Amino acid sequence: MQLSELYRQVIMDHYQNPRNQGDLEGAITVELRNPSCGDEISLQLKVTGGVVEDVRFRGSGCSISMASASMMTEAVKGLPVDEALALSNAFRAMMRGESFDEDQLGELEALQGVSKFPARIKCATLAWQALEKGCKA
Ligand code: FES
Repeated sequence: MQLSELYRQVIMDHYQNPRNQGDLEGAITVELRNPSCGDEISLQLKVTGGVVEDVRFRGSGCSISMASASMMTEAVKGLPVDEALALSNAFRAMMRGESFDEDQLGELEALQGVSKFPARIKCATLAWQALEKGCKA
């Protein structure tokens, strides 16, 4: 199997079976909208003792935005806030086509191909933008 096909399957799996979807009681909620298409995400974040204890999302959007949100929630759950923000920086660097640490990004690397399509970068970064806002709230 080619790597691009494997990546496509990872993205479709997260789109069709999103992880961490739903609501969290007593959580910080961040709602964001992609202005170019109107798609939305509502991210709920529970931070305890400087650690992302839990994170959920709801949204309506394209496969890239929803898969990226699902993958982001899996990646940051349980991380200290500063590490979650560092991961977000690394993800954004990958989206800008800059070099990145493959070990740090892990499965998120499946979204690397999006960086070649400037119009879709906002799709992939929407959930991360919400995460950053929530972590800094
Ligand atoms: Fe709207 Fe991707 S087309 S978020």
